[in-house]
Amino acid sequence: MGKGSGFGKVILFGEHFVVHGIPGIVSAIDSTTNSEVKRTDKIIEVHDERGGSKGYAEEKKFQQLESINRMLEKMNLSPENTGLNIWLGGSLPGFSGLGASAASSVAIARAIAEEFNLSFSDQEINEIAYEAEKAYAGNPSGIDNTAATFGGLLWFKKNLVGGPNIIEEISIKKPVEIIIGSTGIVANTKAMVKGVADRKKANPEQYDPLFENAEELATEARKSIQQYDLKKIGELMDINHRLLREINVSCKELDFLVDISKEQGAYGAKLTGGGGGGCMTALTPGKELQEKVAKKIEKEGFQVLRTKIGVKRI
Ligand code: MEV
Repeated sequence: MGKGSGFGKVILFGEHFVVHGIPGIVSAIDSTTNSEVKRTDKIIEVHDERGGSKGYAEEKKFQQLESINRMLEKMNLSPENTGLNIWLGGSLPGFSGLGASAASSVAIARAIAEEFNLSFSDQEINEIAYEAEKAYAGNPSGIDNTAATFGGLLWFKKNLVGGPNIIEEISIKKPVEIIIGSTGIVANTKAMVKGVADRKKANPEQYDPLFENAEELATEARKSIQQYDLKKIGELMDINHRLLREINVSCKELDFLVDISKEQGAYGAKLTGGGGGGCMTALTPGKELQEKVAKKIEKEGFQVLRTKIGVKRI
């Protein structure tokens, strides 16, 4: 049997913009998806025991099978002739927006590699998981699989002409508490990514300045993270949420969770990941503030993950 795991992630700055070559900032979180894979002489079977939003595993089933086929091809294993029994579990909930698909792809790729005695570097696993991400996101930037593979707090810029992406670790004085609130809505990342691309193409005069703002924002955010200026990071997260609203990827549940987090004293709050449902995140330094914001969200009937950004690779 082969085993593997991949990190969950939270995008702090730049989701969607990152698909179009704008830099983004992502942090792995201390929850992982784990996989065990056994070779069989039958077909590919997946036993998905991840917790999370109702219907998540079911809705993603089709994309998941496509992602596994893509991975096998990239690993030079024939999808038609490879029988696999795949188990998925771990502490990362199946919420849209937390990189659950990328974490599962990294976990499965590592487990298949171990089961078939294939030796891949982390960079190769990242490339395999990127192929798999295409099934879930259509035209992914690569930020999710990169965080799922390497962990840490990362600056990511997609290379739009096919060369290597820019991936740099950002140093932070110490980890900071955040909360992740789930709307419970299973979102379709592929449709959200395509929607932004279509609207950008149709309305360049409206969208191009927003993309320029997103680039400046990411650069400023990197500086404030390095300076450990938590108030500033929070302010920039608020601005990022407004930009994401302007490109039409938020929804009323996300805006509601962002608003109540701010009312409870969060330094900043924004949707995270593909939007259209899925998750938001709020910067809540210190256990007390984290608990206050988390409790309020739970009281309103939504699920919350209490975690930290800037935790070193586990
Ligand atoms: C999804 O977590 C992040 C998006 O920017 C898509 C991508 O970067 O691949 C929406």
